[in-house]
Amino acid sequence: MSGFVEKRRGITLISELKPTERPKKRIEFLDRTAFSLDELADMTIMSFGYSEEDREIHGDYQSVSDRDANRRILELIKKEVFGQSPPALWQIALIDQRPAGLVVGFIPEAEYRPPHGVVGQLSVLPGFRRRGVGMALLGRIHDEFRFRDCRYGFVGTPRSNHKALKLYEKAGYVRTFGQDEFEIQI
Ligand SMILES: CC(C)(COP(=O)(O)OP(=O)(O)OC[C@H]1O[C@@H](n2cnc3c(N)ncnc32)[C@H](O)[C@@H]1OP(=O)(O)O)[C@@H](O)C(=O)NCCC(=O)NCCS
Repeated sequence: MSGFVEKRRGITLISELKPTERPKKRIEFLDRTAFSLDELADMTIMSFGYSEEDREIHGDYQSVSDRDANRRILELIKKEVFGQSPPALWQIALIDQRPAGLVVGFIPEAEYRPPHGVVGQLSVLPGFRRRGVGMALLGRIHDEFRFRDCRYGFVGTPRSNHKALKLYEKAGYVRTFGQDEFEIQI
């Protein structure tokens, strides 16, 4: 017995950054300059930990289940530790002037690969789900990635996140590789 315990089973998907279907409901967008990182971290935690099902899927991912951890990650993305992340790669969807969802992306340094964008975080607030907000945010960040000459997009999610997998596949993503993480107490 090695003592390692499987903690997270993830999957990475890749897309050609096609435009996505336009939402039926009017959605407005703002970039991150309209919000503080605290407000954005609150939005994230509310979305990823909303239901029992959401907590089951994301509970082992501190970066989206723990508010301080999420705040720190947002700070690092903003400081461009993972790659370029200008305000336009942070899009907040508004419905009736209320924040409904958030997408945060970055473009890593890619010396040996074509330029590409990473969807670091996508979330829709509980009361706004199933109205096309997630798809609209994805379409919006695809536009921003293409505008910056990205040739494809990457996103990762837990393998058990069936609703997100359906969303990504509907937006043209294909599953590429799994990423399983193990932990041991030392
Ligand atoms: C996953 C998530 C972003 C979807 O946002 P959303 O705005 O509700 O999604 P949309 O309304 O744009 O749905 C687009 C497509 O995704 C799929 N989908 C979304 N929610 C679904 C659900 N609950 N069950 C099944 N399919 C679902 C459907 O194919 C849907 O198309 P359809 O409505 O024509 O059937 C949202 O549920 C969420 O924030 N979850 C918690 C955080 C998370 O898991 N983020 C993504 C992975 S890191």
